[in-house]
Amino acid sequence: MSYCSGIFSPTECTKRSLFLIFTVSFTIYLISYFCHSSHLAAQPKSNDLHMESEKSLLRKLSTNFKQISGKQNGELPPENEKSGNKATPTPENEKSGNKAMPIPTRPFAFIINEEEKCKGRTPFLVLLISTTAAEVERRNAIRRSWGSEGAVPGADVIRLFMLGSDTEGDKGDVLLRESEQHHDIIQQDFLDTYNNLTLKTLMGMSWVASYCSGTRFAMKTDSDVFVNTMHLIEKLLRPLPPPTQNYFTGHLMAGNSPIRNKASKWYISEEEFPGNRYHPFCSGTGYVFSGDLAAKIVEASLMIKFIHLEDVYVGFCLHAKGVEIVPPPYSLFNIHKVPFSPCAYNELITSHHIEPHEHILYWETLQEKKHMCQERKVHPGES
Ligand SMILES: *[C@@H]1O[C@H](CO)[C@@H](O)[C@H](O)[C@H]1NC(C)=O
Repeated sequence: MSYCSGIFSPTECTKRSLFLIFTVSFTIYLISYFCHSSHLAAQPKSNDLHMESEKSLLRKLSTNFKQISGKQNGELPPENEKSGNKATPTPENEKSGNKAMPIPTRPFAFIINEEEKCKGRTPFLVLLISTTAAEVERRNAIRRSWGSEGAVPGADVIRLFMLGSDTEGDKGDVLLRESEQHHDIIQQDFLDTYNNLTLKTLMGMSWVASYCSGTRFAMKTDSDVFVNTMHLIEKLLRPLPPPTQNYFTGHLMAGNSPIRNKASKWYISEEEFPGNRYHPFCSGTGYVFSGDLAAKIVEASLMIKFIHLEDVYVGFCLHAKGVEIVPPPYSLFNIHKVPFSPCAYNELITSHHIEPHEHILYWETLQEKKHMCQERKVHPGES
């Protein structure tokens, strides 16, 4: 200890040396700690890490869900192809991947929920209807017509309207009163915009998964779609019951490619989806699925990069789970407006571009006149 010899006593010198050594090591420790943690923050998390935290999230029976970026192009291998730790990202897909889409990173909370609606029940069908706060008239028309929970005698039906949050109109109070009256509204705190429709659908799926997993079937539809719930149940779902698992049907869209024309309603940028093919999906105007698929779709969504086209996105999730879409026996699901006639509407499940008063008019006319219609013979190959 030559540096202090002669100035301090040996005891004092030892004390000072120990203090110096302590200070220096602590400083080095601090520096290395901060370097390490900022390094971690800058590093993209591996998919393994994601999957681990998502699993525990899902275990908490998510009333919410968390959106993360998974593999690029919204693609995952079907479940049966997945093995072990294959998901570890290579530098390549780290690079070309997922920075583009503003991905909501926090779970969304329910603002309005119906946690008890399905308690002690095993419904036959849950109707999940996409709507916005302003569409009161549409909701009322649907309540009084095809969406009435007693519309199909002997079938336990639950109706839920799905909404995001609407900052502009501040319809909070009005909506709350509507919800207290009808108990058929669920709402989460994401902005209610066209580009957030995927979040809305996933909210519905996670509601079914969390509060009504025993439902036999569920259907996602829109508030401008007429749904002949009677025909849906009596013709498609009851007589020759479809499988209770992994069953998904609707207006099949197969072999579709992303639309790059900015004027299109279905435009999607290369940034949001760089691939050039979609997996098969069903038009979001109306698709029907077995209750088990709600949880599977939510689970898949935790690992698949988000895109704003909800129906295309659900197709990605089905593909990831190895679920094949079952086409309906004939054109039951129409994505256009079928001109009204009682016998035409007696034989269909969906018709699009329906005004509020038409929901009621068509439904009531149908009930009055359908006994006069000839039953259609179903030929298996027909579509
Ligand atoms: C979707 O909702 C989130 C959460 O409220 C919001 O931050 C985001 O801007 C919305 N996205 C679009 C495209 O509207």
